Amino acid sequence: MDENKLITFFKKKRKDFPILKQKVKGHDLIYFDNGATSQKPQVVIDSLVEYYTKYNSNVHRGIHTLSEEATLKFEAVRGRVAKFISGNEDEIVFTNGTTQSLNFLAGGLSHKVTKGDEIVISRMEHHANIVPWQELCKRTGAKLKYIELTDDGRLDLKSANKVINDKTRIVSIAHVSNVLGTVNQVKDIIKLAKKFGAYSILDGAQAVPHMKINVRDLDCDFYVFSAHKMYGPTGVGVLYGKYSSLEDLEPVNFGGSMIYEVFGEESTYNKIPFKFEAGTPNIADVIAFEKAINYLEETGLDNITKYEGLLTKYFLEKISQVEDLTLYGPKNPKDRAAVFSFNIEGIHSHDMSSILDKFGIAIRAGHHCAMPLMANYNVSATCRASLGLYNTIEEIDKFIEVLKKAKSIYEKGDIF
Ligand SMILES: Cc1ncc(COP(=O)(O)O)c(C=O)c1O
Repeated sequence: MDENKLITFFKKKRKDFPILKQKVKGHDLIYFDNGATSQKPQVVIDSLVEYYTKYNSNVHRGIHTLSEEATLKFEAVRGRVAKFISGNEDEIVFTNGTTQSLNFLAGGLSHKVTKGDEIVISRMEHHANIVPWQELCKRTGAKLKYIELTDDGRLDLKSANKVINDKTRIVSIAHVSNVLGTVNQVKDIIKLAKKFGAYSILDGAQAVPHMKINVRDLDCDFYVFSAHKMYGPTGVGVLYGKYSSLEDLEPVNFGGSMIYEVFGEESTYNKIPFKFEAGTPNIADVIAFEKAINYLEETGLDNITKYEGLLTKYFLEKISQVEDLTLYGPKNPKDRAAVFSFNIEGIHSHDMSSILDKFGIAIRAGHHCAMPLMANYNVSATCRASLGLYNTIEEIDKFIEVLKKAKSIYEKGDIF
């Protein structure tokens, strides 16, 4: 598809998202907070309503029509997710989100880590990929090591080469930064982890909505992500693991469904992946998640990457014209997804967010659950605009217009 066709194609996609039709503070809503959570197309919303109105019942247990239908639909999604990322069905564990997936990994690999071992993350991680490892270190006496960043917000491979060594047991890094938008050189990092026999984990929360993921090609041990950032419902996450790596993982949640047999004193566990899914899963949302995957595939991941690349290039050009603005992260559009963190001198990010909200523009302000990264840049907070497939060039123009007059609005005290 050439550029003009691509732009027209994606403009039409907006009508699939009912929430985008509304006005906020008298303006057409411009939703630039997709990194936090994306909006949902009608097909996803319809699926949720259909489940609760037609076949709501528990899965894996009941021998009755509704339960069989729910089980069939629920289990079909496992295969769908596997195909979506080029894994196998028995390598997909459903969780309630990226955070829980990472906690399952930190807990489930704890028996593989002892005093003196090292766990490597990077300076740009989300708290979900920091705190579980800090906790694991506290319990085992292992040390947490950081891959530092280059000046333009990329992983410094020299630093990676230094910190990943024969003491490393686990390397866990973001595929795409939720603050800087950096698309990380994950293959280099995975290779390094392999060289020293360490587990490699990718936090794909910010990558999956923007690009085609092939876990076989990446060759990582584990890949984790959340449905709600990819136009799917909240409360569903994925923990992909190579089957042999899942064999090394111990369950951290115990109870119904994850067992094979329970005796008075001990139990045996169900097979992989079910032994990692204790209790009633989030049935309705898992089933609706399939609709989001279908939506992404029908739109075409390559089209999405290309279109968002076009928006990224345009955004970077336009934002460079705003005075007194610092943009964090890579300057080269090729190195980043459509996630942009910035500050305007003299205006706190919370105030900037309020100014934009006056014009119906939703961004995020704060530390973005990445306090060590904020410290790295010596700031306490930034503004973050994160774009999705329904955003447009015209929306970027409106956004830049407001940024350009933000100082005068702020000086007049006309924020709310
Ligand atoms: C890179 C990254 N990792 C992890 C998370 C946590 O995701 P969730 O809140 O869906 O568990 C986020 C959410 O913003 C994120 O951006």
